[in-house]
Amino acid sequence: MMSRRKLIAGNWKMNGLSGALGYFSELAPVAAGASADVLVCPPATLIHAAVQACAGTGIRVGGQDCHAQDHGAHTGDISAAMLRDCGASHVILGHSERRADHGETDGDVRAKAVAALAAGLVPVICVGETLAEREAGRAVEVVARQLAGSLPENSAILDLVIAYEPVWAIGTGRTASAADVAAMHAAIRERLPNPLTTCIIYGGSVKPGNARELLSLADVDGALVGGASLDAADFSAIIEAVSLENEPLR
Ligand code: PGA
Repeated sequence: MMSRRKLIAGNWKMNGLSGALGYFSELAPVAAGASADVLVCPPATLIHAAVQACAGTGIRVGGQDCHAQDHGAHTGDISAAMLRDCGASHVILGHSERRADHGETDGDVRAKAVAALAAGLVPVICVGETLAEREAGRAVEVVARQLAGSLPENSAILDLVIAYEPVWAIGTGRTASAADVAAMHAAIRERLPNPLTTCIIYGGSVKPGNARELLSLADVDGALVGGASLDAADFSAIIEAVSLENEPLR
């Protein structure tokens, strides 16, 4: 079986001033010994400084959103080319907070993903159902529709990451059960044009205490971590859970 390298990604959301950059010196030794790729997505204001702080560490830095156009009259927006220009390697797209707060549709996410790929960024495309959709038994149908609408056409040969983030698990302290995560990741994988090579990561209240169980699931190739990524020690513990995943749980 082809093995996919795991990815542990931190999403700082709208948190972090320049004083937060000491975080990267704490994270660097952990990332150096990690069995996973490590990505941190700070707010746009810190990307350039974070890239400089991470030079030579192997930690990748990403954006949290980009515009679908590469330049133009779009006040307040940032293009994929601009993210790439300041050293980002990835960009989170279609996060449920962007879909809810900014009305982003699957079509918007697809256009942004096309722009990100054209600029040389790896898109981390987020999908996930609401609690009402899960309780109505529609979780797989909703996620399948988001995937169909958000992935660029001809994505078979493209380098992208899918993040499954049930909306009701984000920032709530509730995680989906291991069985539900495993079932959804398998359902996502069977709908991908390039199932063997696409990295599918889980997000939603991932913490040091639950990371090992979630990361040990067959189709879970990593984690997208919000709140717990703000603390270097917690984020480090999640990264270290990747190398523990094959050891028996005691
Ligand atoms: P959380 O956020 O870990 O705080 O639940 C995850 C995310 O929104 O990516």
